[in-house]
Amino acid sequence: MAQCVVTCAKEVGCTEILDVGSGKGYLPTLVAWRGGFEVVAVDGQEANTSAAAQRSEKIRNLERKEGRKEEKAGPPPERFVTAMIGQNNEGPGVTGGTAAPDLEMVPLDKLVPDLGLENALLSGLHCCGDLTGEMIRGFHASGGLRAMAVAGCCYHRITEPGGFPMSSAAATAAKNCIRWPSEKTPPHWNPEGPGVALGFILRDQACHSVHAAAVDHSKWAHRISVTNAYVAVLVHLVQDFAERCEVSVPTEFISNRATTKGHTKVSCPFGTWASKMLAKSSEEFEKMGCDGLGQLSVSACEAFYDEHGAVITQQILAMDAVSACLRPVGEAVIVADRVAFLLEKGHVAHVEAMFDPVISARNWVIIARKA
Ligand SMILES: C[S@@+](CC[C@H](N)C(=O)[O-])C[C@H]1O[C@@H](n2cnc3c(N)ncnc32)[C@H](O)[C@@H]1O
Repeated sequence: MAQCVVTCAKEVGCTEILDVGSGKGYLPTLVAWRGGFEVVAVDGQEANTSAAAQRSEKIRNLERKEGRKEEKAGPPPERFVTAMIGQNNEGPGVTGGTAAPDLEMVPLDKLVPDLGLENALLSGLHCCGDLTGEMIRGFHASGGLRAMAVAGCCYHRITEPGGFPMSSAAATAAKNCIRWPSEKTPPHWNPEGPGVALGFILRDQACHSVHAAAVDHSKWAHRISVTNAYVAVLVHLVQDFAERCEVSVPTEFISNRATTKGHTKVSCPFGTWASKMLAKSSEEFEKMGCDGLGQLSVSACEAFYDEHGAVITQQILAMDAVSACLRPVGEAVIVADRVAFLLEKGHVAHVEAMFDPVISARNWVIIARKA
Protein backbone atom coordinates (compact mmCIF):
# COMPACT_ATOMS: atom_id res chain seq x y z
CA MET A 1 0.00 0.00 0.00
CA ALA A 2 2.83 2.41 0.89
CA GLN A 3 4.43 1.79 -2.50
CA CYS A 4 1.09 2.38 -4.23
CA VAL A 5 0.64 5.71 -2.42
CA VAL A 6 4.20 6.81 -3.26
CA THR A 7 3.87 5.81 -6.94
CA CYS A 8 0.45 7.47 -7.38
CA ALA A 9 1.59 10.68 -5.67
CA LYS A 10 4.73 10.88 -7.83
CA GLU A 11 2.80 10.16 -11.03
CA VAL A 12 0.36 13.00 -10.35
CA GLY A 13 3.04 15.34 -8.99
CA CYS A 14 1.68 15.59 -5.43
CA THR A 15 4.14 16.85 -2.84
CA GLU A 16 1.95 16.23 0.22
CA ILE A 17 0.14 13.19 1.62
CA LEU A 18 -2.95 13.38 3.81
CA ASP A 19 -3.50 9.99 5.45
CA VAL A 20 -6.92 9.74 7.08
CA GLY A 21 -7.92 7.07 9.61
CA SER A 22 -4.19 6.70 10.16
CA GLY A 23 -4.49 4.56 13.32
CA LYS A 24 -1.04 3.88 14.79
CA GLY A 25 0.58 5.65 11.85
CA TYR A 26 2.30 2.73 10.09
CA LEU A 27 1.28 3.80 6.58
CA PRO A 28 2.01 7.55 6.85
CA THR A 29 5.41 6.96 8.43
CA LEU A 30 6.39 4.43 5.77
CA VAL A 31 5.17 6.75 3.01
CA ALA A 32 7.12 9.66 4.50
CA TRP A 33 10.37 7.66 4.56
CA ARG A 34 9.86 6.08 1.15
CA GLY A 35 8.71 9.16 -0.73
CA GLY A 36 10.12 12.11 1.21
CA PHE A 37 6.72 13.85 1.12
CA GLU A 38 5.27 16.23 3.64
CA VAL A 39 2.85 13.91 5.46
CA VAL A 40 -0.15 14.76 7.63
CA ALA A 41 -1.87 11.86 9.42
CA VAL A 42 -5.38 12.31 10.82
CA ASP A 43 -7.20 9.97 13.18
CA GLY A 44 -10.28 10.34 15.37
CA GLN A 45 -8.59 8.81 18.43
CA GLU A 46 -6.08 10.85 20.36
CA ALA A 47 -4.55 7.64 21.75
CA ASN A 48 -3.69 6.64 18.17
CA THR A 49 -2.22 9.95 17.04
CA SER A 50 -0.08 10.33 20.16
CA ALA A 51 1.16 6.70 19.92
CA ALA A 52 1.93 7.26 16.22
CA ALA A 53 3.84 10.47 16.98
CA GLN A 54 5.94 8.68 19.64
CA ARG A 55 6.67 5.79 17.28
CA SER A 56 7.69 8.17 14.53
CA GLU A 57 10.01 10.01 16.93
CA LYS A 58 11.58 6.70 18.03
CA ILE A 59 12.30 5.79 14.40
CA ARG A 60 13.98 9.14 13.83
CA ASN A 61 16.09 8.71 16.97
CA LEU A 62 17.12 5.23 15.87
CA GLU A 63 18.08 6.51 12.44
CA ARG A 64 20.15 9.23 14.10
CA LYS A 65 21.84 6.74 16.46
CA GLU A 66 22.75 4.41 13.65
CA GLY A 67 24.34 7.34 11.86
CA ARG A 68 22.20 7.06 8.76
CA LYS A 69 21.45 10.76 8.85
CA GLU A 70 24.60 11.55 6.88
CA GLU A 71 23.83 8.99 4.20
CA LYS A 72 20.21 10.04 3.69
CA ALA A 73 18.45 13.01 5.19
CA GLY A 74 15.13 11.87 6.70
CA PRO A 75 11.80 13.24 5.41
CA PRO A 76 10.12 16.23 7.07
CA PRO A 77 8.55 14.98 10.34
CA GLU A 78 4.99 13.71 9.90
CA ARG A 79 2.27 15.79 11.54
CA PHE A 80 -0.25 13.77 13.56
CA VAL A 81 -3.63 15.44 13.99
CA THR A 82 -6.64 14.27 16.00
CA ALA A 83 -9.88 15.02 14.16
CA MET A 84 -13.11 13.25 13.32
CA ILE A 85 -13.90 13.46 9.63
CA GLY A 86 -17.61 13.73 8.88
CA GLN A 87 -20.51 16.06 8.18
CA ASN A 88 -22.29 16.05 11.52
CA ASN A 89 -22.52 13.95 14.66
CA GLU A 90 -25.49 11.92 13.44
CA GLY A 91 -25.16 11.28 9.73
CA PRO A 92 -22.53 9.54 7.61
CA GLY A 93 -19.08 9.86 9.09
CA VAL A 94 -19.97 8.46 12.49
CA THR A 95 -18.11 5.20 12.48
CA GLY A 96 -19.61 3.55 15.49
CA GLY A 97 -17.40 3.20 18.50
CA THR A 98 -14.06 3.15 16.73
CA ALA A 99 -13.36 6.85 17.03
CA ALA A 100 -13.85 9.44 19.76
CA PRO A 101 -17.58 10.21 19.92
CA ASP A 102 -17.10 13.49 21.79
CA LEU A 103 -15.13 15.17 18.98
CA GLU A 104 -16.90 17.60 16.64
CA MET A 105 -17.11 16.23 13.12
CA VAL A 106 -15.11 18.23 10.58
CA PRO A 107 -15.74 17.87 6.84
CA LEU A 108 -12.60 17.02 4.88
CA ASP A 109 -12.93 19.97 2.50
CA LYS A 110 -12.78 22.30 5.52
CA LEU A 111 -9.86 20.49 7.15
CA VAL A 112 -7.64 20.41 4.05
CA PRO A 113 -7.15 24.23 3.79
CA ASP A 114 -6.92 24.46 7.61
CA LEU A 115 -3.97 22.05 7.43
CA GLY A 116 -2.42 24.21 4.71
CA LEU A 117 -2.53 21.43 2.10
CA GLU A 118 -2.57 22.51 -1.53
CA ASN A 119 -1.17 19.66 -3.57
CA ALA A 120 -1.95 16.48 -1.66
CA LEU A 121 -2.75 12.85 -2.27
CA LEU A 122 -5.42 11.54 0.08
CA SER A 123 -4.53 8.08 1.39
CA GLY A 124 -6.27 5.69 3.75
CA LEU A 125 -5.88 2.06 4.65
CA HIS A 126 -8.95 0.21 5.95
CA CYS A 127 -10.99 3.31 6.61
CA CYS A 128 -14.04 2.13 8.51
CA GLY A 129 -17.65 2.31 7.43
CA ASP A 130 -18.73 5.73 6.23
CA LEU A 131 -15.25 7.20 6.54
CA THR A 132 -14.24 6.02 3.03
CA GLY A 133 -17.39 7.60 1.55
CA GLU A 134 -16.68 10.82 3.43
CA MET A 135 -13.12 10.81 2.09
CA ILE A 136 -14.38 10.32 -1.47
CA ARG A 137 -16.84 13.22 -1.08
CA GLY A 138 -14.08 15.31 0.52
CA PHE A 139 -11.68 14.49 -2.31
CA HIS A 140 -14.25 15.75 -4.82
CA ALA A 141 -14.94 18.93 -2.86
CA SER A 142 -11.31 19.84 -1.96
CA GLY A 143 -9.17 21.86 -4.33
CA GLY A 144 -6.09 20.89 -2.28
CA LEU A 145 -6.56 17.16 -2.94
CA ARG A 146 -5.35 16.08 -6.37
CA ALA A 147 -5.35 12.30 -6.06
CA MET A 148 -6.46 9.54 -3.74
CA ALA A 149 -5.68 5.90 -2.88
CA VAL A 150 -8.07 4.49 -0.28
CA ALA A 151 -9.10 1.01 0.88
CA GLY A 152 -12.30 0.69 2.89
CA CYS A 153 -13.33 -1.75 5.60
CA CYS A 154 -16.05 -2.36 8.24
CA TYR A 155 -18.81 -2.20 5.63
CA HIS A 156 -21.33 -3.14 8.32
CA ARG A 157 -20.87 0.38 9.69
CA ILE A 158 -22.00 2.07 6.45
CA THR A 159 -25.13 4.17 6.85
CA GLU A 160 -27.92 3.28 4.47
CA PRO A 161 -29.01 5.50 2.81
CA GLY A 162 -26.24 8.10 3.00
CA GLY A 163 -23.09 6.01 2.87
CA PHE A 164 -24.67 3.74 0.23
CA PRO A 165 -25.64 4.32 -2.50
CA MET A 166 -23.35 7.26 -3.29
CA SER A 167 -23.60 7.21 -7.10
CA SER A 168 -26.69 8.02 -9.09
CA ALA A 169 -25.90 4.91 -11.19
CA ALA A 170 -26.41 2.68 -8.14
CA ALA A 171 -29.40 4.70 -6.94
CA THR A 172 -31.07 4.41 -10.36
CA ALA A 173 -30.30 0.70 -10.64
CA ALA A 174 -31.61 0.22 -7.12
CA LYS A 175 -34.96 1.73 -8.04
CA ASN A 176 -35.61 -1.22 -10.32
CA CYS A 177 -34.53 -3.81 -7.82
CA ILE A 178 -36.75 -6.14 -5.94
CA ARG A 179 -36.43 -5.80 -2.20
CA TRP A 180 -35.09 -8.78 -0.32
CA PRO A 181 -38.01 -10.18 1.64
CA SER A 182 -37.89 -10.24 5.41
CA GLU A 183 -40.50 -10.82 8.06
CA LYS A 184 -41.35 -7.13 7.92
CA THR A 185 -41.02 -6.47 4.19
CA PRO A 186 -42.45 -9.00 1.74
CA PRO A 187 -40.77 -9.04 -1.69
CA HIS A 188 -41.98 -6.16 -3.83
CA TRP A 189 -40.93 -3.99 -6.74
CA ASN A 190 -39.92 -0.60 -5.55
CA PRO A 191 -39.95 1.75 -8.55
CA GLU A 192 -40.52 4.96 -6.56
CA GLY A 193 -39.27 4.14 -3.09
CA PRO A 194 -35.96 4.77 -1.39
CA GLY A 195 -34.29 2.07 -3.49
CA VAL A 196 -32.56 -1.11 -2.54
CA ALA A 197 -30.67 -1.51 0.71
CA LEU A 198 -27.72 -3.87 0.99
CA GLY A 199 -28.71 -4.67 4.56
CA PHE A 200 -26.56 -5.32 7.59
CA ILE A 201 -25.86 -9.01 6.98
CA LEU A 202 -24.59 -8.57 3.42
CA ARG A 203 -22.47 -5.58 4.43
CA ASP A 204 -21.13 -7.53 7.40
CA GLN A 205 -20.32 -10.53 5.20
CA ALA A 206 -18.58 -8.20 2.72
CA CYS A 207 -15.93 -7.49 5.39
CA HIS A 208 -14.75 -11.09 5.45
CA SER A 209 -12.63 -12.94 2.98
CA VAL A 210 -14.23 -15.82 1.11
CA HIS A 211 -10.82 -17.43 0.88
CA ALA A 212 -10.70 -18.27 4.58
CA ALA A 213 -13.72 -20.55 4.06
CA ALA A 214 -12.51 -21.92 0.73
CA VAL A 215 -8.79 -22.42 1.40
CA ASP A 216 -8.70 -23.36 5.07
CA HIS A 217 -11.83 -25.47 4.84
CA SER A 218 -11.50 -27.66 7.95
CA LYS A 219 -10.56 -24.73 10.22
CA TRP A 220 -13.57 -22.78 8.87
CA ALA A 221 -15.90 -25.77 9.35
CA HIS A 222 -14.67 -26.21 12.93
CA ARG A 223 -15.23 -22.53 13.73
CA ILE A 224 -18.76 -22.48 12.29
CA SER A 225 -19.58 -25.72 14.12
CA VAL A 226 -18.72 -24.25 17.53
CA THR A 227 -20.22 -20.82 16.88
CA ASN A 228 -23.21 -20.50 14.53
CA ALA A 229 -24.14 -24.19 14.73
CA TYR A 230 -24.04 -24.20 18.56
CA VAL A 231 -26.49 -21.27 18.58
CA ALA A 232 -28.76 -23.03 16.07
CA VAL A 233 -28.79 -26.26 18.11
CA LEU A 234 -29.58 -24.24 21.24
CA VAL A 235 -32.49 -22.53 19.49
CA HIS A 236 -33.87 -25.97 18.53
CA LEU A 237 -33.36 -27.25 22.07
CA VAL A 238 -35.26 -24.30 23.56
CA GLN A 239 -38.08 -24.54 21.04
CA ASP A 240 -38.36 -28.29 21.61
CA PHE A 241 -38.61 -27.73 25.38
CA ALA A 242 -41.08 -24.84 24.95
CA GLU A 243 -43.29 -26.95 22.68
CA ARG A 244 -43.55 -29.58 25.39
CA CYS A 245 -44.57 -26.81 27.84
CA GLU A 246 -47.08 -25.65 25.21
CA VAL A 247 -45.60 -22.15 25.03
CA SER A 248 -43.49 -20.44 22.40
CA VAL A 249 -40.12 -18.75 22.77
CA PRO A 250 -39.12 -16.41 19.92
CA THR A 251 -35.99 -17.54 18.01
CA GLU A 252 -34.45 -14.08 18.46
CA PHE A 253 -34.83 -14.28 22.22
CA ILE A 254 -32.37 -17.12 22.59
CA SER A 255 -30.08 -16.27 19.65
CA ASN A 256 -29.68 -12.75 21.04
CA ARG A 257 -28.65 -14.10 24.42
CA ALA A 258 -26.39 -16.88 23.19
CA THR A 259 -22.83 -15.77 22.78
CA THR A 260 -20.10 -17.92 21.31
CA LYS A 261 -17.41 -15.34 21.94
CA GLY A 262 -14.07 -17.03 22.46
CA HIS A 263 -15.43 -20.41 21.46
CA THR A 264 -13.18 -20.84 18.51
CA LYS A 265 -10.29 -20.93 20.94
CA VAL A 266 -11.95 -22.79 23.78
CA SER A 267 -14.14 -25.21 21.80
CA CYS A 268 -15.85 -26.53 24.90
CA PRO A 269 -18.47 -29.29 24.48
CA PHE A 270 -21.99 -28.16 23.54
CA GLY A 271 -23.51 -29.35 26.83
CA THR A 272 -21.19 -27.22 28.99
CA TRP A 273 -21.78 -24.12 26.88
CA ALA A 274 -25.53 -24.59 26.43
CA SER A 275 -26.37 -25.18 30.10
CA LYS A 276 -24.47 -22.00 30.96
CA MET A 277 -26.38 -20.03 28.32
CA LEU A 278 -29.73 -21.41 29.54
CA ALA A 279 -28.92 -20.58 33.16
CA LYS A 280 -28.35 -16.94 32.17
CA SER A 281 -32.01 -16.60 31.07
CA SER A 282 -33.47 -18.84 33.78
CA GLU A 283 -35.84 -16.20 35.24
CA GLU A 284 -37.15 -15.16 31.83
CA PHE A 285 -37.82 -18.80 30.88
CA GLU A 286 -39.85 -19.25 34.06
CA LYS A 287 -41.92 -16.15 33.27
CA MET A 288 -42.59 -17.59 29.81
CA GLY A 289 -43.81 -20.83 31.36
CA CYS A 290 -40.74 -22.96 30.61
CA ASP A 291 -40.01 -24.08 34.18
CA GLY A 292 -36.80 -26.07 34.48
CA LEU A 293 -35.30 -24.95 31.15
CA GLY A 294 -32.82 -22.64 32.89
CA GLN A 295 -31.64 -25.53 35.07
CA LEU A 296 -31.18 -28.09 32.28
CA SER A 297 -28.11 -30.20 33.06
CA VAL A 298 -24.94 -30.47 31.01
CA SER A 299 -25.73 -34.10 30.19
CA ALA A 300 -29.30 -33.32 29.08
CA CYS A 301 -27.99 -30.63 26.71
CA GLU A 302 -25.28 -33.00 25.49
CA ALA A 303 -27.88 -35.70 24.80
CA PHE A 304 -29.90 -33.24 22.66
CA TYR A 305 -26.74 -32.41 20.74
CA ASP A 306 -25.94 -36.10 20.17
CA GLU A 307 -29.38 -36.57 18.64
CA HIS A 308 -29.73 -33.39 16.54
CA GLY A 309 -26.33 -31.68 16.41
CA ALA A 310 -24.93 -33.35 13.29
CA VAL A 311 -27.89 -32.53 11.02
CA ILE A 312 -28.24 -28.94 12.25
CA THR A 313 -24.49 -28.39 11.90
CA GLN A 314 -24.59 -29.62 8.27
CA GLN A 315 -27.43 -27.18 7.52
CA ILE A 316 -25.56 -24.28 9.09
CA LEU A 317 -22.35 -25.16 7.23
CA ALA A 318 -24.27 -25.23 3.93
CA MET A 319 -25.86 -21.85 4.66
CA ASP A 320 -22.57 -20.31 5.69
CA ALA A 321 -20.89 -21.61 2.51
CA VAL A 322 -23.60 -19.93 0.40
CA SER A 323 -23.27 -16.67 2.30
CA ALA A 324 -19.46 -16.87 1.97
CA CYS A 325 -19.93 -17.00 -1.82
CA LEU A 326 -21.92 -13.75 -1.65
CA ARG A 327 -19.19 -11.89 0.28
CA PRO A 328 -17.27 -10.67 -2.78
CA VAL A 329 -20.57 -9.63 -4.39
CA GLY A 330 -21.38 -7.35 -1.46
CA GLU A 331 -17.91 -5.80 -1.46
CA ALA A 332 -17.88 -5.41 -5.26
CA VAL A 333 -21.22 -3.54 -5.17
CA ILE A 334 -19.96 -1.15 -2.48
CA VAL A 335 -16.64 -0.50 -4.23
CA ALA A 336 -18.27 -0.15 -7.69
CA ASP A 337 -20.74 2.40 -6.26
CA ARG A 338 -17.89 4.46 -4.83
CA VAL A 339 -15.93 4.36 -8.09
CA ALA A 340 -19.10 5.23 -10.07
CA PHE A 341 -19.56 8.30 -7.83
CA LEU A 342 -16.02 9.46 -8.66
CA LEU A 343 -16.51 8.88 -12.40
CA GLU A 344 -19.87 10.69 -12.36
CA LYS A 345 -18.12 13.68 -10.79
CA GLY A 346 -15.66 13.73 -13.69
CA HIS A 347 -12.61 12.23 -11.98
CA VAL A 348 -10.34 9.49 -13.31
CA ALA A 349 -10.80 6.42 -11.13
CA HIS A 350 -10.08 2.71 -11.03
CA VAL A 351 -9.68 -0.14 -8.55
CA GLU A 352 -6.61 -2.23 -7.79
CA ALA A 353 -6.34 -5.42 -5.76
CA MET A 354 -3.59 -4.51 -3.30
CA PHE A 355 -3.05 -7.55 -1.09
CA ASP A 356 -3.31 -11.31 -1.30
CA PRO A 357 -6.96 -11.86 -0.31
CA VAL A 358 -5.96 -15.07 1.49
CA ILE A 359 -3.93 -12.99 3.92
CA SER A 360 -6.00 -9.84 3.97
CA ALA A 361 -9.66 -9.32 3.15
CA ARG A 362 -10.78 -5.81 2.12
CA ASN A 363 -7.97 -5.63 -0.38
CA TRP A 364 -9.56 -3.33 -3.00
CA VAL A 365 -7.94 0.08 -3.25
CA ILE A 366 -9.81 2.89 -5.01
CA ILE A 367 -7.34 5.04 -6.90
CA ALA A 368 -8.43 8.36 -8.37
CA ARG A 369 -7.10 11.67 -9.60
CA LYS A 370 -8.63 14.93 -10.68
CA ALA A 371 -9.06 15.01 -14.48
C1 LIG B 1 -9.24 -0.07 10.82
S1 LIG B 1 -8.37 1.26 11.49
C2 LIG B 1 -7.06 1.44 10.30
C3 LIG B 1 -5.86 2.14 10.86
C4 LIG B 1 -4.69 2.29 9.90
N1 LIG B 1 -5.04 2.98 8.68
C5 LIG B 1 -4.04 0.97 9.63
O1 LIG B 1 -4.26 0.42 8.54
O2 LIG B 1 -3.28 0.48 10.48
C6 LIG B 1 -9.42 2.66 11.16
C7 LIG B 1 -9.00 3.95 11.85
O3 LIG B 1 -9.87 4.99 11.43
C8 LIG B 1 -10.15 5.84 12.54
N2 LIG B 1 -11.44 6.50 12.25
C9 LIG B 1 -12.65 5.91 12.11
N3 LIG B 1 -13.59 6.81 11.80
C10 LIG B 1 -12.96 8.01 11.72
C11 LIG B 1 -13.39 9.32 11.40
N4 LIG B 1 -14.66 9.59 11.08
N5 LIG B 1 -12.46 10.31 11.39
C12 LIG B 1 -11.16 10.05 11.69
N6 LIG B 1 -10.70 8.82 12.01
C13 LIG B 1 -11.58 7.80 12.01
C14 LIG B 1 -10.17 4.94 13.73
O4 LIG B 1 -9.86 5.62 14.92
C15 LIG B 1 -9.08 3.90 13.36
O5 LIG B 1 -7.83 4.25 13.87
